Amino acid sequence: MTVLSKSSAAVVTATLPAVQAHGAAITSRFYQRMFAAHPELLDLFNRGNQATGRQQAALAAAVVAYAEHLTGHSTLPWAPILDRIAHKHASLGITATQYPIVGRHLLAAVGEVLGDAVTPEVATAWNEVYWLLACELIAREARLYTVAGLPLQADAGWRPWRIVEKIPETADVVSLILAPADGDPAPTFTPGQYVSVAVDLGDSQGRQIRQYSLSGRPGAATWRITVKRLRGGAGAAGGSAGSPAPDGTVSSQLHDRTAVGDVLRLSPAFGEVSSIGALGAPLLLVSAGIGVTPAMAALAQLGAVAPAREVVLVHADRSAAAHPLRHELPELQQRMPNLSVHLWYEDATDGEIAGLKATVHAGRVDPTLVPLTPGAWAHLCGPVPFMAQVRGELLRRGMPAERIGYEVFGPGMLAG
Ligand SMILES: Cc1cc2nc3c(=O)[nH]c(=O)nc-3n(C[C@H](O)[C@H](O)[C@H](O)COP(=O)(O)OP(=O)(O)OC[C@H]3O[C@@H](n4cnc5c(N)ncnc54)[C@H](O)[C@@H]3O)c2cc1C
Ligand code: HEM
Repeated sequence: MTVLSKSSAAVVTATLPAVQAHGAAITSRFYQRMFAAHPELLDLFNRGNQATGRQQAALAAAVVAYAEHLTGHSTLPWAPILDRIAHKHASLGITATQYPIVGRHLLAAVGEVLGDAVTPEVATAWNEVYWLLACELIAREARLYTVAGLPLQADAGWRPWRIVEKIPETADVVSLILAPADGDPAPTFTPGQYVSVAVDLGDSQGRQIRQYSLSGRPGAATWRITVKRLRGGAGAAGGSAGSPAPDGTVSSQLHDRTAVGDVLRLSPAFGEVSSIGALGAPLLLVSAGIGVTPAMAALAQLGAVAPAREVVLVHADRSAAAHPLRHELPELQQRMPNLSVHLWYEDATDGEIAGLKATVHAGRVDPTLVPLTPGAWAHLCGPVPFMAQVRGELLRRGMPAERIGYEVFGPGMLAG
């Protein structure tokens, strides 16, 4: 167990409220400082998250929550939080040598924001917190790289992948079928895992990286990602009437400015998958919108290797026409006699899917109606409020928390 020294524990406890209160200001100042000193890191970090403040919130929340954990002010289980960050870092190719840079600028930002309150003792105590957390992450990331057979160096395992097919799925979703451009075979993966995709933005705008869940069958000769175009405007994340948000950078690029034959750089597959992996128990898959992608990889795998498995699929969408990959369900159900499908469409007027036996509801998902099989594991993927609501109901109905996995398509985790 990681322990903070006694003297630092007292100082951290005393200064926690101040750091907590100024967490957003500290991390915002941290990023300004770090990018000024290391402009090359602008290509590594998600500029959309920077603009909307989501990444600031995630980093600040992690450091403060870890300090609370070390000083006994929180009983939050830490392993899943560390695992999530480590998998995200590994998919970005982050290395131990980058931790001193982040540490230096983070601690300097604490000093700038809190001013005279940061005595040498306070600086030492928070330095200790940072490095205890950094060491936990570095160790986990080293283990992930080693298990994946990768060297411990920047961008290890990133490869060129050629787009061999581009399939329109719905009005705003497209699938890319990708084959290794270096001639080596496509590695397999576990359903629920994702890859980082790097795109060059052209016009000296640098590069951006985003994560996409693999939506095809593990073990296939190609990988598939299924990408929803993020539209900007006044109502989008970070937008307002006076200042409409821009269209999503990478999703727009993948939709509009990539074609069959183009080559993209992809990381190896990472992502914790305990609730969706190769278990024998019944499985409950709950998704909304583009959150269907991990569920489709799970169904593709189970259809091939464990077709008798009891699986309940719950999916919510605006309408049948907006439901990505729905055309794969009838064939999966033919192969999987114990797959039951429950669809919630806000507009259910054209809700039937030819050849599919499904219960179709009109409106938004009512979590109290989600069928629960005894002993089931669950995997959720969709907007955070949707997942929080469904998870709350599953917990209320007695499903143990450790059996409920989920994926957030952005930084952060569900509370509690
Ligand atoms: C583990 C994981 C798996 C994922 N799997 C999938 C998947 O299978 N399919 C999928 O489609 N997506 C998936 N995502 C989401 C994906 O990674 C991207 O976040 C998504 O495609 C949007 O990226 P973007 O570059 O298009 O948008 P960004 O450019 O990152 O923009 C995001 C939002 O921020 C707003 N914004 C950006 N800049 C500004 C600004 N300057 N001012 C105000 N607002 C701004 C935009 O309008 C937009 O609403 C996944 C994410 C994770 C973490
Ligand atoms: C103790 C040190 C660190 C902590 C506590 C930390 C914490 C986090 C957290 C909480 C996230 C969001 C994870 C998620 O839920 O998706 C994240 C993402 C990220 N981290 Fe770290 N991190 C640390 C060190 C580093 C280092 C050394 C780098 C490399 C320079 C780095 C680069 C990134 C990047 C690029 C992302 C994704 C950003 C995005 O998508 O917006 N981090 N980190």
